[in-house]
Amino acid sequence: MRFRLGAPALFLLLIWDVASAAPCAQVKTKPGAWVATQVDALVGAAHAAYESDDALPAYERVLDRITGTLRRCGLARDEGFLDRHGRFVEYVEAASLDRQPDHELGFNVPDGQYFEETRDYVRIPEFLLAPGFLRSVSRYETLDRAKSFLRLLNSARAPADQLIFFSYTSRHLGTPDNAHSYRRLLIVVPGDAEEGVPDKWVQFGVPDPGARARIRNVSVVSALAGAGGTFDAYFKDYYRTFRRDGSIGVKGRWELGEGDDNCVRCHKSGVLPIFPVAGSVSAREQEALLEVNRRFLTYGAPRFGKYLDESKFGPGLGSESGGRRGGQPGGGYGETGARRAVSCASCHRHGQLGALNWPMDRIVISSYVKGGLMPFGFELNAPERGELYERLIREYFATDPASPGILKSWLLSKLS
Ligand code: HEC
Ligand code: HEC
Repeated sequence: MRFRLGAPALFLLLIWDVASAAPCAQVKTKPGAWVATQVDALVGAAHAAYESDDALPAYERVLDRITGTLRRCGLARDEGFLDRHGRFVEYVEAASLDRQPDHELGFNVPDGQYFEETRDYVRIPEFLLAPGFLRSVSRYETLDRAKSFLRLLNSARAPADQLIFFSYTSRHLGTPDNAHSYRRLLIVVPGDAEEGVPDKWVQFGVPDPGARARIRNVSVVSALAGAGGTFDAYFKDYYRTFRRDGSIGVKGRWELGEGDDNCVRCHKSGVLPIFPVAGSVSAREQEALLEVNRRFLTYGAPRFGKYLDESKFGPGLGSESGGRRGGQPGGGYGETGARRAVSCASCHRHGQLGALNWPMDRIVISSYVKGGLMPFGFELNAPERGELYERLIREYFATDPASPGILKSWLLSKLS
């Protein structure tokens, strides 16, 4: 899903960037007008990129052009400018972290440093690297054997330390090494909050029945309880290497030079609840599915250690803030349930479940709304859900000057 440009393309872009960039003098005499134009361009490009990956390169060009001008004209250090447009500057800085080549995760330190510093949190527990287990989890046909092994481990673990596991089919995405592979085995390994040991959510990609192709990915999200009802989420992808002698090695995907992803783009709530393809979790494992989702809800508000300040991205979908309803009482919803239904941000906001703001993933959002899980506790029929979804997206990305959307309003507002 990531785009890589070769050196010649980058060079051309650079030329194009310089040619199309506004002169600093012009920006500085009319900063407000410049920001307004850039915000419209950015929000429009973000909307297109939300709808289609094909529009991602254009979005990235807009972002790079803005960062380039901010830097070139010294605006990010200009106090007068920051005073008026600090929120815009902070947003652009946070959103463009993953435009730097060694920041694929989108954090404020290079990927290598992130993995170095968080190594203990995201290490796969030794017992999940046992050769027999690795072999049986790497084929659909022997998955039951892998689960028997986990049950055996559980027989020797204390009640609070029991591994919670089940297999399911994802309705959202393939693995990083195979876009068509949707089967997973998820194992939640309980930590010990008092000892500073995080819960580890370890997920193995499992090949389809009969498939000959190997699935390499193993992902970890860890959840470390923090102060004041928050938790920190840490991420790492690993790849299995299937050696000729039948043994299986496991190493970091990034360390293997296989790239990485901006996990937070989708993992707004740190850990994500599992909303699997209907019928893909066996009756026997239903309880484990419910249990991991219950566990997720006990974590509280997500944070990402010192590596990202998510609040810089502003309010998310279905939020009232941003002043977009000014002069439009009720926002045109009338007094029906649909009005309340759009206030996703009563739960999905910074300090709670995390705001659903750009950059975010269309497949995850539309699946929860159209698939019937969200908004929480509302009975809506399919057309109502479709309409709600359209409305949420429209209100978030709107650039209409008379009633700007959530993102535009945030970018144009002053720091408070
Ligand atoms: C394109 C969106 C997307 C990206 C990017 C993404 N994930 Fe996920 N991830 C999901 C979704 C959605 C789920 C929930 C299960 C499902 O529906 O497949 C999930 C589940 C997981 C799980 C199982 C535990 C949980 O949170 O439910 C792990 C572990 C995981 N992801 C790790 C990662 C890591 C590590 C990265 C970055 C290297 C990453 N993910 C990037 C969408 C994404
Ligand atoms: C009353 C609180 C509440 C409201 C309102 C609500 N949600 Fe949620 N949302 C939750 C909870 C709780 C979960 C975790 C669900 C689970 O455990 O399966 C969740 C999960 C999600 C997820 C997956 C996790 C993530 O953060 O990406 C998405 C996407 C989502 N909701 C979208 C929405 C949208 C869009 C709306 C508004 C139309 C909405 N929600 C309204 C409580 C709420």
